[in-house]
Amino acid sequence: MPDRRGEVEIRESTRTLPVSSRRVAALIAREVERFRQQHRRSNDLRSEARRFSPGGVPSSFQDVDPHPIFIDHGSGSRIWDVDGNEYVDFHNGFGVMVVGHAHRRIVTAVSERLARGSHFAQPVAEGTLVAEELARRFGLTQWRFTNSGTESTLDAVRIARAFTGRDRLVKIEASYHGHHDAVMVSVEPAANRMGPVDAPESVPQCEGIPAAVVGLTTVVPFNDVGVLQSTFKRYPDEIAAVIVEPAMMNVGIILPEPGYLEAVQSMVHRHGALLIFDEVKTGVTIASGGATERFGVRPDIIALAKAIGGGLPCGAVGGRGEIMALIEKKRVAQLGTFNGNPLTMTAARVTLSEILTQQAYAHFEALAKVLQVGLDGVIARHGLGFHVITVGARGGVTYRAERVRNYRDYLGIDKSFAYLSWLYQCNRGLLMAPGAEENWTLSVQHSVEDVERYIDNFAEMAGELRAVRATAAS
Ligand SMILES: Cc1ncc(COP(=O)(O)O)c(C=O)c1O
Repeated sequence: MPDRRGEVEIRESTRTLPVSSRRVAALIAREVERFRQQHRRSNDLRSEARRFSPGGVPSSFQDVDPHPIFIDHGSGSRIWDVDGNEYVDFHNGFGVMVVGHAHRRIVTAVSERLARGSHFAQPVAEGTLVAEELARRFGLTQWRFTNSGTESTLDAVRIARAFTGRDRLVKIEASYHGHHDAVMVSVEPAANRMGPVDAPESVPQCEGIPAAVVGLTTVVPFNDVGVLQSTFKRYPDEIAAVIVEPAMMNVGIILPEPGYLEAVQSMVHRHGALLIFDEVKTGVTIASGGATERFGVRPDIIALAKAIGGGLPCGAVGGRGEIMALIEKKRVAQLGTFNGNPLTMTAARVTLSEILTQQAYAHFEALAKVLQVGLDGVIARHGLGFHVITVGARGGVTYRAERVRNYRDYLGIDKSFAYLSWLYQCNRGLLMAPGAEENWTLSVQHSVEDVERYIDNFAEMAGELRAVRATAAS
């Protein structure tokens, strides 16, 4: 982390040596210039788009420096931008495309479906197959479909409130659960507004979120059962649910400490509340049954989206029978014109039953191992104070030596390394999701050669950081 002189420490076996932040900034400046040279057409399209759309992008997550990259097409593990640059895709549409681009089975099945009509707002038989498969993977019996992660967590919270007859929601500081009001609280709060660690403030993510709604969402740190306990004491019989990303994946990757999820579950139940897992990122990517399977804790309600739809906009919310029964009893309205759309259901069925097989998960683990071993080696060789986390199809580099337990730890990381890495990879044929907090997503169509591209680029960057360190130390 930056010290008072604007320097960062890089660890070398037992020694740590300072690195000049100014030199890292110089590398960033060089890479930004190279990026601009390679993306002129994207920049032009962005300027045109801006005339009719704020920031020239369809979602503010795509509005990133130096400017957004407009994509032309994708195939397998690769995508091509409008300037003709080819990338190994580690972004994979913010973690959606674990099937890879234009997967033959999905193209065929969805094309056939399209030719028979694309939307009826009536149920189609394939929806039952998808729900059955989700029930098998996650061990929750009843499912409804949505079109995004936002809708899935929105429904999950509403169902939990109805079931318990309580209004208060507890969420983890810095978890992102989509863009509805109840959860857009303390997503990445500024340090000067976030309050004490044992009682974090509830900070709205942006303007336009009513204070009354923010006041109903209480925030606790991840991996901290003590603060959760005191929160339940502070609000007896008020808390409907605790919503958790079982492994946090929007501030790098933060894994649950052993026993944490179990402790949360038993505390939540002791107090008559429900446990919601937001598995929008972890579901079907870190194991067949997501975090629920991987960490061995089954929540009361699960929110899914992203990867389950094989590239079409699909979400789902599932729960125990007596909880989801509120929908059939019409005590909770779970709605949406496009829910269970035939194209989406076809893509989801093919994704879950034909592509994300046990073999696919073995493939993710094998690629993860190549990345883990390769990157660990580079980090050790260059004495860098970084570490690598891989979990199935997901993983990333954390730019500090120690494990991160929660948002407060994450805040201390110098984000300029992540930005430099993003530029570095992008300028050398590998696209990562934009943003310092993002991680990679692999697909069934990625090869060992693809993931070695990441390691090679990373090694080149590490060499330059090493040169920086030598210069700074000399
Ligand atoms: C954990 C998590 N939950 C919910 C969402 C919201 O999903 P969507 O963008 O599909 O609305 C996201 C999006 O990144 C997410 O990462």
